[in-house]
Amino acid sequence: MDGPAGAGKSTVARLLAARLGFLYLDTGSMYRALAHKALVNGVDLRDEAALAELLEETTIELYPAPQGQVRVIMDGHDVTDALRRPEVTASVAQVAGFPRVRQEMVARQRELASQGGVVMDGRDIGTFVLPEAEVKFYLTASLEARAHRRYQELSQLGYTVSLDRIREEIQHRDMLDSSRPYAPLSRARDAVVVDTTHMDVEEVVAIMLNTCRQRLGE
Ligand code: DC
Repeated sequence: MDGPAGAGKSTVARLLAARLGFLYLDTGSMYRALAHKALVNGVDLRDEAALAELLEETTIELYPAPQGQVRVIMDGHDVTDALRRPEVTASVAQVAGFPRVRQEMVARQRELASQGGVVMDGRDIGTFVLPEAEVKFYLTASLEARAHRRYQELSQLGYTVSLDRIREEIQHRDMLDSSRPYAPLSRARDAVVVDTTHMDVEEVVAIMLNTCRQRLGE
């Protein structure tokens, strides 16, 4: 499942995985974990080699938690909540833009998916990480709808945020994610496009479940 920031991927991917009895793998959290570690360790976010070396010595594990949540354990510590910090959000697209970082992340993601039975979300899953995936979705929504969702998500986590600022950040991140030369955000030709602007979560999940059941022959 791919799509721009705030299209609702993680919410519906989590629910879809639970209904199918699959594992949910949130690849964005892997890039966020590296960005978080780089910020904490004062690593230069423009230095591709330093980031690639940092990743080499970093373990990132994704564990299912109650209510379809995923806990992210980095180097043995639970960093799940830290990964939503605005500082991490602001720097992650830069970190995720480097080919050396992406190559290692993609290798790890393919390994995680190798047993099958997973719902994976990100930006390049259908096009690059798992081109042979049995079912592909591209989730999208208007900028306004996506900004509102991120605003609500962050407010619920206790952050004081401005809607205008979030809209700008999303636009900026979309631009970075879509324009990077290596494995940019793009729709796989065989992906089912779901525009979630006017849909609630249950509607989106219902459409996806139907598609999965048809494609997987259940
Ligand atoms: O989905 P998210 O907001 O947690 O993603 C964080 C960032 O990581 C986002 O800027 C895009 C990037 N990303 C990526 O480049 N490739 C992926 N497979 C997943 C996320």
